[in-house]
Amino acid sequence: MYRPDTANAAARRPRLLVIILVAFFALQLLVFLVFRGAPSPGAQAAAVSHVPVLPRRDADNSGCSGGQVYVYDLPPVFNEDILSPCDALAPWYSLCPYLANDGLGFPANWTNLSTIMPAELVGSWYSSDQFVLEHIVHRRLLTHRCRTTDPARATAFFVPFYAGLSIGRHLWATNSTDADRDKDGVALLSWLHAQTYYKRSHGWDHFIALGRITWDFRRSPDGGWGGSFLLMPGLANITRLVIERHPWDAMDVGIPYPTGFHPRTADDVRSWQQYALSRPRPKLFAFAGAPRSAIKGDFRALLLEECKAAGDACSALNCGEGICIKRNALVVQQFLGARFCLQPRGDSFTRRSLFDCMVAGAVPVLFWRRSAYLQYEWYIPVGNDHEGEWSVFINRDELRARNVTIRGVLAAIPAARVQQMRKRVVEMVPKLVYSAADKEGLGDGMKDALDVMIDGMVRRVAKQRRS
Ligand SMILES: *[C@@H]1O[C@H](CO)[C@@H](O)[C@H](O)[C@H]1NC(C)=O
Ligand SMILES: *[C@@H]1O[C@H](CO)[C@@H](O)[C@H](O)[C@H]1NC(C)=O
Ligand SMILES: *[C@@H]1O[C@H](CO)[C@@H](O)[C@H](O)[C@H]1NC(C)=O
Ligand SMILES: *[C@@H]1O[C@H](CO)[C@@H](O)[C@H](O)[C@H]1NC(C)=O
Repeated sequence: MYRPDTANAAARRPRLLVIILVAFFALQLLVFLVFRGAPSPGAQAAAVSHVPVLPRRDADNSGCSGGQVYVYDLPPVFNEDILSPCDALAPWYSLCPYLANDGLGFPANWTNLSTIMPAELVGSWYSSDQFVLEHIVHRRLLTHRCRTTDPARATAFFVPFYAGLSIGRHLWATNSTDADRDKDGVALLSWLHAQTYYKRSHGWDHFIALGRITWDFRRSPDGGWGGSFLLMPGLANITRLVIERHPWDAMDVGIPYPTGFHPRTADDVRSWQQYALSRPRPKLFAFAGAPRSAIKGDFRALLLEECKAAGDACSALNCGEGICIKRNALVVQQFLGARFCLQPRGDSFTRRSLFDCMVAGAVPVLFWRRSAYLQYEWYIPVGNDHEGEWSVFINRDELRARNVTIRGVLAAIPAARVQQMRKRVVEMVPKLVYSAADKEGLGDGMKDALDVMIDGMVRRVAKQRRS
C-alpha cells in the first residue's frame, strides 16, 4: 500500500486509457493516409521499403527514455564535509587514499597485479574501499547521461547524504551518545522535508545509497549497535539502496559492494571476460576470510578445516589483520585460480568477497539464502529456476553434521556444467561493477551497476505510481 491517496485516480484511469488508445490509433491512421496518398495495391511493397529508418537515440540501450534522475545539491555538511577528516572515518586505517578518482581509489598498478594478469588489463583495477560507495554513487550520478538538473523533468530524486560515512565516525567511539549518532540524519530529514519535490511525492520517488549494511542504521530504542537513521519515521517513504538489505523491508534494495574492477569501456569489460573465462583454474575451490577463533563452532573455521582436508583442491587466504583490504590483489589472484569460491556469512550475511569472486569468474558457493538470493534482485537472477545457473547452495546443517563435504559436492558437478555456470557468472560481470566510464557510459548498450540502479529506480517509481 504505497499510495492510498491515489485510489480515486486509479478508478478514473480506464476511461483515460480508452481516450489515449483512440487518439493513438487516430494518429496512426492520419500518418498512414498522409504518407501513402491513395496507394494502388502494387505500389504498397515499394512504398514500405522506402520509409526511411531514422536512428532514434532514445530507443537504444544508452538512452534515458525510462526517466531521468535529479541529484539534490545538499549543504556540504551532509556529504563533502563528512569526507574531510578522511583519516578518522574508519578505525583501523585511513580512507584518504581511497577517495581518489571520485571514490574509485588509487590505480592498482603499483601492486603486483601485472604478475597476475596481462598488462593491458591492469589499468581497469583500483584499490577501492567499500565504505566509499556513497561517494562513488554520488559522483557517478552527477556526470551520468540520465541526470537532469531540472527537477521538473526528473522521474527519481537522489539524496546524496553520506549516511554510512557519517555513522562510521561514531560506531567505535566509546564517548558517542545516541544523539551524536543520529544528529546528521535528523538534520538531513528536516532539510529534505522542506523541499518542493519531496512534498509533492511525500518522498516516494526519492532514493539514497548506503555504503554500510542496513543493520548499522537500525539501533533498537533500548540501545545497541549503530544509528537509527533507517528507523526514523521521516525516512519511511524513501528507497534505500544498500549493500546488505533487511530481507523483509521492501524499502531496502540491495546493490553490489564495490570491487576493485572499474572498466572504462565495453571493450575493457570484454577483454576481462575473455581472460577470466580462459585462464587455467587449478583449484576446485577457494576461501578468503578471517576465522573468529574466539567464537565456538564458528562456521568459517569449519570451512577452513574443509579446505585443509581437501589438500591441493583448495586454496585459503587468511584475511586477518585487514590483509584482504590492504592487498586486494591477493584476493583477486586467489579467485582467478579457482572454479568455485566459498561465501559463508561473516559478521553479517553478505560480504564484498561475493563480488570479488564473481568478477574473477569463479562460481559462488552459498550457505545462507540471505547472502545473495534475498539481496540483489536487480543485479543477479534469483528465484529457484535461476539460482542454480550461477551458484551452488549447500545446506549448512548437513555440512555441520558431516553428512556432506564441500569437496564432495563440488567435485560431483560435471565439468561441462561447471563451465556453463562460469560462463553465466562472467556474463553478469558488467552489471556487478561500478565503471569508470564518462558520461557516455561503457558503450555498446552495456550496463554497469550504476545504470542498473537508475533503471531499477525509474521502474520502481513507475510501479508505485501505478499502484
Ligand atoms: C608483491 O609481491 C612481493 C613478493 O611476492 C610481496 O613481498 C609484496 O608484499 C607484494 N606487494 C603487494 C603490494 O602486494
Ligand atoms: C570523543 O573523544 C574523542 C577523542 O577522545 C574526541 O575527539 C571527540 O570530540 C569526543 N566526542 C564527543 C562526542 O565527545
Ligand atoms: C509517506 O507517504 C504517505 C502517503 O503515501 C504520507 O501520508 C506520509 O506523510 C509520508 N511520510 C513522510 C515521512 O513523508
Ligand atoms: C545426516 O545423516 C543422518 C543419517 O543419514 C540423518 O539422520 C540426519 O538427519 C542427517 N542430518 C542432516 C542435517 O541432514
